Amino acid sequence: MSDTQRTPHIQHSLPAERRMVSGKPVIGDTHIDLNLRPKHLSEFVGQGKVKDNLKIAIAAAQKRQEPLDHILLHGPPGLGKTTLAYIIAIEMGVSIKVSSGPAIERTGDLAAILTNLHEGDILFIDEIHRLSRIVEEKLYPAIEDFVFDIFLGKGPAARSLRLNLPHFTLIGATTRFALLSPPLRDRLGAIYHLDFYDKLAIEKIIKRSSAILKVPVEDGGATQIARRARGTPRVANRLLKQLRDYAQIKANGIISEKVALEGLSKLEIDSAGLDEVDHKILHTIIDKFDGGPVGLDTISASISEDANTIMDVYEPYLLQLGFLERTPRGRVATKLAYEHLGLPCKSNYRLQTQLWNQDQT
Ligand SMILES: Nc1ncnc2c1ncn2[C@@H]1O[C@H](COP(=O)(O)OP(=O)(O)OP(=O)(O)O)[C@@H](O)[C@H]1O
Ligand SMILES: [Mg+2]
Repeated sequence: MSDTQRTPHIQHSLPAERRMVSGKPVIGDTHIDLNLRPKHLSEFVGQGKVKDNLKIAIAAAQKRQEPLDHILLHGPPGLGKTTLAYIIAIEMGVSIKVSSGPAIERTGDLAAILTNLHEGDILFIDEIHRLSRIVEEKLYPAIEDFVFDIFLGKGPAARSLRLNLPHFTLIGATTRFALLSPPLRDRLGAIYHLDFYDKLAIEKIIKRSSAILKVPVEDGGATQIARRARGTPRVANRLLKQLRDYAQIKANGIISEKVALEGLSKLEIDSAGLDEVDHKILHTIIDKFDGGPVGLDTISASISEDANTIMDVYEPYLLQLGFLERTPRGRVATKLAYEHLGLPCKSNYRLQTQLWNQDQT
């Protein structure tokens, strides 16, 4: 089903580009994103396993004096995929060329990008799952054998010309791993998954950012921001920036716990980092559908929010918190969700998950 068929009349309660707790970039983020982006692996907080594996891969490639293997970075928005791609280029001491799946419309666009690369360069393709099939198929020989075939003319007179490409490293990034075609997935040597950050890591990121932005944050203030940042550095930085303004106007410029709590309450984000839309999703499942299971399209129609946006932007964090469960019969609100909303857990949640478990066996 296409996006448009799925949601004929969308009225967003709050445009995604304005949501305070969206992992995706919102208006005004570009500037802080660039300023606060770590430049070296040693400054990149958290994601220990990914960092360790990357360190080894980079050291080994440098020892062999070869380009890195192709890489795929996947995970929810705002966790550091683009940041890592730039860091890898800096650590390898090579140039990085940046493009994205939707921007490479024709095979000619791809040819232009590939033929401008130099030996060892990194080609970063963001939203790589959105490459068209034709472009993707032209990419396979480029990353496997470093060649690009150009077809000249049509019919019996057609000829093909094989261009040799420099040995480069492709880094693909995606928020939708499941939408990546298996042949492309198989051709990417190293696959790294970025997960939501724990509170300690987010607190560290807030402290690092506060030093760069020159805004003093007390421990209690950092803890309160971290609790609401949805495990996402981009959200943490955005909340910090908002509180900086609040602290400058309302307090003495210092983000103490009290100032953080006051400022954050004005942003209408609850103690777990949930905003109005998250609440609407949970209340719809609980109030209208007795806790679920309820299909994604039904939730989408009930709250007038695009189904893909619910799946990409809202659900991952609700799942991570354990407030929501995805079952083949639909979405189910868990006991934790009832507790968080202060509602008595009268749902038949246990029965639903039992039925689901039976389905699985
Ligand atoms: N591990 C980290 N340590 C410190 N800051 C980080 C870290 N990861 C991300 N950030 C900050 O979060 C911002 C967003 O990260 P980035 O743009 O790399 O996310 P992304 O995964 O590419 O998001 P999208 O899916 O929207 O493209 C960066 O500008 C950076 O300031
Ligand atoms: Mg990115």
